[in-house]
Amino acid sequence: MFPSGFYRDENDELNVQGIKIDALTAKYGTPLFIYDTGLMKERYELFLNTVKSVKGNIHYAVKANDSVNIIKFFGKLGAGADIVSIGEFHKCVAAGITPDKIIFSGVGKDKNEIETAIRNNILQFNIESEEELDDIYEIASKLKLTANICLRINPDIAPNTHKKISTGEKETKFGIDNENILSIYQKLHKLKYINPVGLGVHIGSQIFDFNFFHKAYLNLKTVADNLKSIGFKVPTLDLGGGIGIYYDQNKNPDFDTYKKVISDLFLDSEYKLSFEPGRSLIAEAGILVTKVIRNKKNKDKNFIVIDVAMNNLIRPTLYDAYHKIEPVKKIPGKEIIADIVGPICETGDFIALNRKITEVSNNDKLIIRTTGAYGSVMKSNYNARVDALEILIYNGKSYKLKKTDTILDIISKEKIIDFV
Ligand code: LLP
Repeated sequence: MFPSGFYRDENDELNVQGIKIDALTAKYGTPLFIYDTGLMKERYELFLNTVKSVKGNIHYAVKANDSVNIIKFFGKLGAGADIVSIGEFHKCVAAGITPDKIIFSGVGKDKNEIETAIRNNILQFNIESEEELDDIYEIASKLKLTANICLRINPDIAPNTHKKISTGEKETKFGIDNENILSIYQKLHKLKYINPVGLGVHIGSQIFDFNFFHKAYLNLKTVADNLKSIGFKVPTLDLGGGIGIYYDQNKNPDFDTYKKVISDLFLDSEYKLSFEPGRSLIAEAGILVTKVIRNKKNKDKNFIVIDVAMNNLIRPTLYDAYHKIEPVKKIPGKEIIADIVGPICETGDFIALNRKITEVSNNDKLIIRTTGAYGSVMKSNYNARVDALEILIYNGKSYKLKKTDTILDIISKEKIIDFV
């Protein structure tokens, strides 16, 4: 048995499931995303164990990593899915997740997306406005098919995370404010083809102070209890995702504290609970391997230019996110401070700034850790850069996740106009 994740062997060489990362880059090249199913399984089971006492259902937040095989792997372990587009719906279906295990979240569901979801008998819509309800009602009535509706509350809580991924304050576009919940929940009951199934909340991502979860869930429960006390059925509460993970340390998310929070509020309650974890299931199970293109010095500033850029991993520049970077092969050398940057023509194209790192040589391989979530899904082809290859390690073997387009494939998809 090998340790899960990406670990160093007795020769200090980096491995995954007994395979050397060096061997993988020799076979597949760089940039290369590598995912470890061992860690994915371990995390899924930890999460399952965390929500077991409250009999929670896990709906993997597909947006974190929507590779069909990754969805399929979690699906095989028993997960349903949380989606935010009909594209993600189709990916889930391709991954073998049936519509009755899929929750459709998101503030901007288009009418054609709603129609496809209703026609496929999706488990539930988490809706974010009365206007959205009107659209769903119109489509459900036209189709004469029932839509299950859960209202997402905006509890006006700022969970102290990066502002771009904080979704619980009233200034954000998400959810319905507490004051309007009662009237909209009432309205649900009056509409034919609309089946009210409960309430939900998701206050943001990468949250470490779990008091915010407590506050948000208590608010949710209080509103639900009130609705029940006046005679409405509120069978389901959706508690969203958002558990913070450690990008700078090798340790599990604080599932124990999370378990305390949910047990405190929901142990022996009659609500059916659903959870939508994304990052905490897949982030650490992925690394991105890169090659050093060159070392460059400007006056006394060091730059390490690598073959990964912001088109492969946008998190550092978009959220000032920290990702650990280490050499595949540890070679003794002196420590320097360097900006680790990609080839894209923008100052914003960096993976790390002022990072302390042991000197590297051109062609050395480095790994960028914790890139399983919100890594490859946020890619682009900016600067006509092709996608990084992605592989999955399962039972000690490596599998390509998808065919990647060459630049000629990309060009061949453009329609060339004959400017005569
Ligand atoms: N449920 C809903 C409704 C969500 O909007 C999200 C994430 C999740 C669940 C999953 O949250 P998680 O467990 O992964 O924290 N691109 C950003 C993160 C955006 C999160 C969007 N919503 C990043 O790279 O940090």
